[in-house]
Amino acid sequence: MSSMVQPDGAAGEWPEEVAAVRRELAEHGPPRSPDGAPDFATVTLPERDCDQVRDLLVDEGVGTVVEIGLAYAGSALAIGEALLRAGSATPRHVVIDPFQYTAYDGVGWELLCSAGLDDVAELVTEPSQQFLGRLAGVGFAADAAFVDGSHHFHNVFVDLHFLGEIVRPGGIVLLDDVWWPSVGAAAAYFETNLGWHPLPDALADGTTDPDSGRPRTRAYRLPAPPPTPDFKEFRPFC
Ligand SMILES: C[S@@+](CC[C@H](N)C(=O)[O-])C[C@H]1O[C@@H](n2cnc3c(N)ncnc32)[C@H](O)[C@@H]1O
Repeated sequence: MSSMVQPDGAAGEWPEEVAAVRRELAEHGPPRSPDGAPDFATVTLPERDCDQVRDLLVDEGVGTVVEIGLAYAGSALAIGEALLRAGSATPRHVVIDPFQYTAYDGVGWELLCSAGLDDVAELVTEPSQQFLGRLAGVGFAADAAFVDGSHHFHNVFVDLHFLGEIVRPGGIVLLDDVWWPSVGAAAAYFETNLGWHPLPDALADGTTDPDSGRPRTRAYRLPAPPPTPDFKEFRPFC
């Protein structure tokens, strides 16, 4: 397995090797299912959606991505592939999941390692709501984030708050399961009050709710420069 991205920005066969690990996971599932672990098909981002996330991140030319929620690494492999294809000389993928070893027996991280992506990715095993504040505090900057961790309203809200500080102005935040009211409501605040701009065409061929037609995953572009709204101008968002 390649150990680094080539200096001219091309990553050789490495992205193809990552794509092969992704295909194997999508077709045959994870190499093992730990006792009591959540079902692969239920938790993973579907392959078609992963492809779209990858394509969007490549188009954005990302070099650093923060991801919340590793599970079996479905989306993480797509993001790793995107980082290699985007051609940064110093790709970086921060993956946060407090339950990777307690619930998933490390299967997602092993899959990233099997694709050689431990050269690019680092795993943080604490809740994103605790870790992101510290990351923002040291001035860490990312081009994009993918959010698919806790789905409680208050946790998603805190995630998005800190990602608003970490993702650079003009960067993008992708939010999975936005069709759940708890997740959609948290996102609505940032859209309504802080100028996060939805990109409906960015993931246009992704999974939709068969009943409502609402998309599963939404992409937002962060405003540049970030606004400094007056609290008296608060707009109710639900
Ligand atoms: C739906 S799964 C993620 C699926 C993954 N995106 C994929 O495509 O395979 C949600 C993940 O969020 C993790 N999670 C739950 N609470 C979290 C928290 N507070 N911080 C970070 N991750 C969390 C879970 O352990 C689980 O792995």
